[in-house]
Amino acid sequence: MTSQNEAVMDRNMAIEAVRVTEAGAIAAAKWVGRGDEKEADAAAVDAMRTALNRLHIDGTVVIGEGERDEAPMLFIGEKVGAGGPKIDIALDPLEGTTLTAKANANAMAVLALAPDGDFLNAPDTYMEKIAIGGGYRDGLIDITATPQENLNALAKEKGVDVSSLTVCILDRPRHEGLIAAVRDAGARIFLIADGDIFGVMATSDPDSGIDMYLGSGGAPEGVLAAAALQSIGGQMQGQLLFRNDDEIGRARKLGIEDLDRIYGLDDLASGDVIFCATGVTDGAMLQGVRRSPGVLETHSIVMRSITGTVREVVTKHNSDRKTVFDD
Ligand code: FBP
Repeated sequence: MTSQNEAVMDRNMAIEAVRVTEAGAIAAAKWVGRGDEKEADAAAVDAMRTALNRLHIDGTVVIGEGERDEAPMLFIGEKVGAGGPKIDIALDPLEGTTLTAKANANAMAVLALAPDGDFLNAPDTYMEKIAIGGGYRDGLIDITATPQENLNALAKEKGVDVSSLTVCILDRPRHEGLIAAVRDAGARIFLIADGDIFGVMATSDPDSGIDMYLGSGGAPEGVLAAAALQSIGGQMQGQLLFRNDDEIGRARKLGIEDLDRIYGLDDLASGDVIFCATGVTDGAMLQGVRRSPGVLETHSIVMRSITGTVREVVTKHNSDRKTVFDD
């Protein structure tokens, strides 16, 4: 990392990053409960892009809204920022488009920043994921092992019975076999409708009651979840899943040669990573955007991997004045 990058990834960048997710969350919040995933997502994308372009960085979107031909804004490879040191950007302007459209819990705007080259250039495919929280011996989980084996290993390490463990899984038909295997192993299951960045992060929060995350979800979300775990602690593995040749082609275009590779936490996101998220709807981790006359209140979490600092930021935005969110 160059000294110029060190300078930009200093403590000020964390608050700059929060401004970006605050902008995304505020824009998306206008669409909470309105049944329109696309408009909600577009509003968040537009607001985050405007905010990113105000940062003094030479940013490249590594994880974004998709490839150039399918995403008008924040596509993979898009340059953002007002100029400065090279920074890779991974983002999900609206994690939980359906959650937002249905006014369900845990929708959030998510951003991670790292100096050049520290995020996996993940294609927009699925990724098989396994994650547990921090504080356990290295190598405890193994994505190639069965749920029973992973749960036994975690239970042994914690000195508890498997029956006291809870696994978070996305509620999808494709997870029918996985859900049956986890139930056979004796663990509880916390099914989520959407939002597996939250699901992975929850393994690191003792208050969540979630001990392990299992199952497939978006590969970009896997990189963002790994970026968060680098600060809050935890172990994670991911393996890309391909449903057809088109998806394999997408991976190859991004330079992925070993299609079966198992990615560890450091392969997914490493280096001096700043991760932040702002709540759109109320959730277990973040409060959603709140409105009162003249004030918009946002709740964000921002963390930095090299220090492990985790900050919660509550911001009262004066909605009567011109703000950084105005064009
Ligand atoms: P969106 O916000 O893009 O809709 O993603 C929500 C999400 O639940 C992710 O958290 C998860 O990784 C992915 O969708 C799972 O994909 P699918 O809905 O196809 O199972």
